[in-house]
Amino acid sequence: MERTLTILKPDCVRKQLIGAVIDKIERAGFRVVAMKKTRLTQATAGEFYAVHRERPFYGELVEFMSSGPCVPMILEKENAVADFRTLIGATDPAQADEGTVRKLYADSKGENIVHGSDSAENAAVEAGFFFSAEEVVRVD
Ligand code: CMP
Repeated sequence: MERTLTILKPDCVRKQLIGAVIDKIERAGFRVVAMKKTRLTQATAGEFYAVHRERPFYGELVEFMSSGPCVPMILEKENAVADFRTLIGATDPAQADEGTVRKLYADSKGENIVHGSDSAENAAVEAGFFFSAEEVVRVD
């Protein structure tokens, strides 16, 4: 069984889409093994996205991700990383397939509703960023 880390981003929370997105996630067969509502500071958002530090959109990304509460979750499923990226669609909602979370709900590349880890290794690092071992609870 594989795990991935997702964040329902501040635009998802502001649009009151937390439930709608979690519904799609659960219907797609993912189990929620950890979840919380939190707010990143500019410092913690900058640290989470440090890999993008040199990119032109880094400042905008940090500003947006610290602009309001978000909902990080650890999800479990076979092939979780790839299947979750299929479920959410391309980074740019204009390029995302019909029926994907970003096609349905996102406004732009920057404000794209949801994050999904790009590898199982990064998922483990990102999960440790938000959750302690005690907060990770298997459902069954
Ligand atoms: P995410 O999967 O959270 O990981 C990196 C984020 O950078 C990505 O989602 C986008 O929200 C953001 N991003 C990528 N490209 C751009 C861009 N051209 N302009 C603004 N934000 C971007």
